[in-house]
Amino acid sequence: ALAVVRPRDLLGRRVLVTAGGTREPLDPVRFIGNRSSGRQGVAIAAAAAARGAEVVLVAAHLEIPAPQGVTVREVGTARELRETVLAEGATADVVVMAAAVADYRPETVADAKIKKEAQGEELVLRLVRNPDILSELTATPGRDGRTVIGFAAETEPDRDALLALGRAKAARKGVDLLVVNRVGWTEGFATESNAIVVVSKGGDIVTEASGSKRQVADAILDLLP
Ligand code: CTP
Ligand code: CA
Repeated sequence: ALAVVRPRDLLGRRVLVTAGGTREPLDPVRFIGNRSSGRQGVAIAAAAAARGAEVVLVAAHLEIPAPQGVTVREVGTARELRETVLAEGATADVVVMAAAVADYRPETVADAKIKKEAQGEELVLRLVRNPDILSELTATPGRDGRTVIGFAAETEPDRDALLALGRAKAARKGVDLLVVNRVGWTEGFATESNAIVVVSKGGDIVTEASGSKRQVADAILDLLP
């Protein structure tokens, strides 16, 4: 796809974007995390700012620098991300949840470094569910006409099965649009390019895009009413 320069069609709109991956601490020096680099979310924030939007980027452990011209709110855990998203989401016209949020966190966080001496040959971790931020956000009223966009990173190789997962997830989360992309050991995370299918709340395919993460970002923002 050619890089097409978009007009400043988001002038005056407040766009909240989450990017990166949350980390759930086990002790002062260790965490459970994921491989999200934040590149797709950062590309969306940069594209929205270039199109004139007032952008707040909720950044969870980005591997790349945040773009110029956006307000950055750094968060660490899923629960910190929740606080920021629910606070900022109340006044946003558009919310894009590109961050990879930990589904579970360690039930307890040790005050001091976990020592082998005390554990022996096995260490069993008990994890508890984190809140579903996106479902909470769509269940609370926001600005009139707010558009909420979720992401679904799936490892499903079959296209039809992938779309079925996406459709079910869009309905379950109550989002206006769900961006479905395939991830794996080599796909999706930490790469410079991406390929996506966007489904509506009703399950229709509204667009497909592939190319650089910036091109994919603009294709997603093109869907805003
Ligand atoms: N998400 C969220 N809060 C969570 C988990 C996910 O807000 N606790 C958001 C993600 O940012 C993403 C969307 O929900 O925009 C879908 O995330 P995904 O991990 O694909 O879906 P889950 O509902 O967590 O289902 P599963 O991981 O079991 O497929
Ligand atoms: Ca998940």
